[in-house]
Amino acid sequence: MSSILEVNDVHKRIRGKEIIQDLKFSVEPGEVFGFLGPNGAGKTTTIRMMVGLAPITSGDILIDGYSIQKSYAKAIKQIGAIVENPEMYNHLTAEKNLIHFARMNGKVDQERIDELLELVKLEHVKKKKVRTFSLGMKQRLGIAQALLHRPKLLILDEPTNGLDPEGIRMVRAYLRRLAEEEGLAVLVSSHLLSEMELMCDRFAIIQDGKLISIEDQRVAGGENQPLPYQIDVGPEKLEAAVQVVKEAYPDLKIEEADQRLTIYIEKENVPALLRYVMEAGFDLYEAREDKQTLEDRFLQATSKEESS
Ligand SMILES: Nc1ncnc2c1ncn2[C@@H]1O[C@H](COP(=O)(O)OP(=O)(O)OP(=O)(O)O)[C@@H](O)[C@H]1O
Ligand SMILES: [Mg+2]
Repeated sequence: MSSILEVNDVHKRIRGKEIIQDLKFSVEPGEVFGFLGPNGAGKTTTIRMMVGLAPITSGDILIDGYSIQKSYAKAIKQIGAIVENPEMYNHLTAEKNLIHFARMNGKVDQERIDELLELVKLEHVKKKKVRTFSLGMKQRLGIAQALLHRPKLLILDEPTNGLDPEGIRMVRAYLRRLAEEEGLAVLVSSHLLSEMELMCDRFAIIQDGKLISIEDQRVAGGENQPLPYQIDVGPEKLEAAVQVVKEAYPDLKIEEADQRLTIYIEKENVPALLRYVMEAGFDLYEAREDKQTLEDRFLQATSKEESS
């Protein structure tokens, strides 16, 4: 499957200062991809480069295979985006706003407009003036507007900023629907980890303009997924225990950390593992699932960056 968005070794320098360094990731069709980082990490700067609003210092960004720098017209055709606030005419109705923007794109496709109003749950208020809309409703109309020309990639910078929990839930639901039903690739930025965990298939974590990690939620969290399980046999016996467990479970991932052995194992196989370790002559001081959450890893990763 070819990527819709490819960020290739992108650097951004502003007045001698490295704002973005060596950024590299890609987004596939049908995927909701998160772009997570604290304030000032470089999310908006990167998004501005993706949509051709800011020059790229070095590296390139490809949209459906087209360079935003070298083939701007072809690349931008595949993008629908809301960067900063969506431009709306408050004195026009929701529907008239969409008709207006469709006209600017060339032609008005009423069917597409109806479909989008339905998708973002605004059909019942389509004859109302945008002036009377709540923030969440305007946000949704903005997304409908961004999708008018049937782009392959939707880019939203902090789409849930300022929304209440119900608004956030709605954004999440229709972004998922778009990705699943239309095969759209969606890139959303946020500084909230909890939001990314709920909304995205995968997400990149950036800090100070650098990529820290890419989390794939499609592999984690399944029913019978191996989970990290920590076993403490005492520091002197650790090496020996690692050997023995590796021999017995050659296919499982086994690590040493914090003077403990960590094995990635399915829950139902834990009792047999513990019995085996004890029968092999080791004393068990502690054995538990390693419940380190993504939040911990996120904070750990970002604080490591700061101290380096
Ligand atoms: N035009 C500019 N001139 C100088 N520095 C800039 C410029 N634009 C952005 N920066 C700096 O680049 C860094 C990244 O900013 P950016 O707005 O991309 O962060 P962000 O991740 O979107 O943050 P937020 O969560 O606050 O929206 C910041 O340190 C910012 O001060
Ligand atoms: Mg920003």
